[in-house]
Amino acid sequence: MAQHMNSSLPEKVPTHIAIIMDGNGRWAISRGLPRLAGHRAGTENLRRVIEACIEFKIQYLTLYAFSTENWGRPQEEVQGLLRILEDVIDRELQQLHDQGVQLRHIGRLDGLTPHLRNKVLQAVEFTRNNDRLVLNVAFNYGGRDEIVCAIKGLLQDSVKIDDINETLVSKYLYTAGVPDPDLIVRTSGELRGSNFLIWQGAYSEWYFTSTYWPDFDKEELRKAVIEFSRRERRYGGVMKNKEDSETNAG
Ligand code: FPP
Repeated sequence: MAQHMNSSLPEKVPTHIAIIMDGNGRWAISRGLPRLAGHRAGTENLRRVIEACIEFKIQYLTLYAFSTENWGRPQEEVQGLLRILEDVIDRELQQLHDQGVQLRHIGRLDGLTPHLRNKVLQAVEFTRNNDRLVLNVAFNYGGRDEIVCAIKGLLQDSVKIDDINETLVSKYLYTAGVPDPDLIVRTSGELRGSNFLIWQGAYSEWYFTSTYWPDFDKEELRKAVIEFSRRERRYGGVMKNKEDSETNAG
C-alpha cells in the first residue's frame, strides 16, 4: 500500500467517517466514576478526534451523540447529556470555527428546549461557510425516524410516485447534500448498528474496536483508516479481476 512520505496514513482515506461513540459509561464505571464522568471524558476526546480528522484530511465526520432512544435513560444522565451539548457549543464553537469546521445538526430539534434549539441553530449558522471539515452532530437522531420524516416531507410536497427514487429520498434526509459515510466506526466492542444512518450506511464499511470512546485517540483513528484502505468495496458487484471465480452479494 502506497504511503505518504511523512506519515503512516494510506493514500486512500475515507471522505466521510461516522462514529458511534460507545463505551463512555463502562469507561467511567471501570474507574469507579459516575457514568456522566464518562460522557465528560468522551467530550474531551472530541477535540482530539476532530483534530485528527483535519490532519488526515477527512472531509466529513458524523458523531452519534444522542439517539431518539436515549430519552429512556435515567433523567440525570439525559439532563447531563443535554448540558454537555450546550457546554460544547459555549466553550468550543469559536475554536471549531477557527479550525474551519462547519457544524451541522442531524436529528430532531423539536425535542430540545427552545433555548438549546436556538443555540444549535446559531452555531450552525455561525460556521456555515467553513469547509475544512463538515461535522454532523447526530443529536436526538434515529435512522428510522429520519426515514419517516423524509416520507412525510415527500407527501407534504405532493411528489409524484414516478418521481420518487433513491436520489430524491436522499434529499429529504437530514444528511441532504452530505455524501454517504465510507466508514462507520463503533467503539467499545458492541457489534450493532443501533438505528444509525440506516439509509446512508447501506454500503459503508464497518470498523469495530473494543476501545472505549474516551480512549479512541488519533492513533486509534489512524488504525481504522488503515484498515479501511485495505478493504475492497464492491457495492453489490464483484471483486476486481475475480469476475470468473464468484459473484458477490455485498
Ligand atoms: C454511548 O456510551 C455514548 C453516548 C450515549 C453519548 C455520547 C456523547 C458524548 C461523547 C458527548 C459528546 C456530545 C456532543 C454534543 C457531540 P454509553 O453511555 O452507552 O456507554 P456504555 O455502553 O459503556 O454504558
